[in-house]
Amino acid sequence: MFSIRHPVRTWFGAGTVEKIRDEAEFAGAKRALLFTDKGVRGAGIADKAIDPLKRAGVDVTIYDECVPEPAIGDLESAWEQFRGGNFDFIVGIGGGSSMDLAKSMSILFTNTGEPRDYLGAELVPKPSLPCALIPTTSGTGAEATPNAIFSIPEKGVKMAIVSTRIIPGAAIVDPELTLTAPLKVTAAAGVDAFTHCLETYVARNATPLSEHYSVRGMELIAGSLRRVCEDGSDIEARTQMALGSYYGGVALAGAGAGAVHALAYPLGSRFHIPHGVSNSLMFSHVMKMNFSANPEKFAHIARILGEDTGGLSGEEAAERSVGAVERLCKDCGVPTQLSEVEVPAHVIPELAEAAFTTQQRLLGFNPRELSQEDIEKIYRAAA
Ligand SMILES: NC(=O)c1ccc[n+]([C@@H]2O[C@H](COP(=O)([O-])OP(=O)(O)OC[C@H]3O[C@@H](n4cnc5c(N)ncnc54)[C@H](O)[C@@H]3O)[C@@H](O)[C@H]2O)c1
Ligand SMILES: [Fe+2]
Repeated sequence: MFSIRHPVRTWFGAGTVEKIRDEAEFAGAKRALLFTDKGVRGAGIADKAIDPLKRAGVDVTIYDECVPEPAIGDLESAWEQFRGGNFDFIVGIGGGSSMDLAKSMSILFTNTGEPRDYLGAELVPKPSLPCALIPTTSGTGAEATPNAIFSIPEKGVKMAIVSTRIIPGAAIVDPELTLTAPLKVTAAAGVDAFTHCLETYVARNATPLSEHYSVRGMELIAGSLRRVCEDGSDIEARTQMALGSYYGGVALAGAGAGAVHALAYPLGSRFHIPHGVSNSLMFSHVMKMNFSANPEKFAHIARILGEDTGGLSGEEAAERSVGAVERLCKDCGVPTQLSEVEVPAHVIPELAEAAFTTQQRLLGFNPRELSQEDIEKIYRAAA
């Protein structure tokens, strides 16, 4: 028995950002609240959604104060500002940071609790306001996932609102919107997308439905991530990345992430490292610990990444996936060792404790059971 979840409608392709107008009409929207950030707005991208809404006669209130890697306090202050507002449509246009703020706001307007009440799994009682999410990075897949992720500074970890009710009614994936994403953002987000596809593929709760998205997502990203890092104007490669990233999001809505994400969160929260970079720091080191738990799947991953596994034993073929992932991250210029981002070795026991005590949900999906000692070993290998 298994299930998967999707946005009610997904638009994909060049120019689909205009479909925000159809979605507003479908929702009967009169007063929209739109979330974005200054980088996305400054690049002229937010206007691509704002203009069609205005032409449709929708009143648009713009919040462009979203910040990268938001803390729960950022959601709380946006909620304080708008809680009395009479909005009927929520839009998020930006990377995962803006989309996570938007989708979280969409449930706050219809439920009676405060933001922190919904951190955890399936704690949201009522459906959200109609919501449309428009990614401008190919990375998080947040336009399709049931998750919104926030740093909890006092605990030094990241936690998520995980709820079927925050999957948006509409995901609008327009690859042209990613053309202006800077190289560093493109590379780190791309590694995040690949992590989603890979971790869901080997997850203990993977299903035939989620695997379909995981595998196709890995194929698309393996064939395009190096290309977008070499030439950000390569629209064909940008298009493959956007689809692969969306597939990673759907895969997350059908299976769990795993230890890469679990170990990346304490790093991201304590050292303000972008999410894709903190995944890259953990990625190959976690895989080294994991590959023997499912040699068949890890060998398949190696082949997707272009490794020739002919004549190798199952274990040998599986191990090839570790180096292949490390090379992918390195070729895109994303760090793979903690020393590259100046995380000191003496914090490792604290990181291991934080990952082990606060990330059991994700650790439960990992193909291999990991003790706190195993986790500490992985951080040390990454030092
Ligand atoms: N909800 C989920 O399922 C999910 C999954 C993975 C990660 N996340 C979260 O998403 C966040 C990271 O999101 P992200 O990697 O997409 O980056 P981001 O939203 O933090 O954006 C990074 C930077 O890139 C800029 N930018 C984005 N798109 C641009 C464009 N097209 N042109 C010019 N500048 C652009 C932004 O202005 C920002 O400065 C983290 O908080 C992470 O925890 C959420
Ligand atoms: Fe992620």
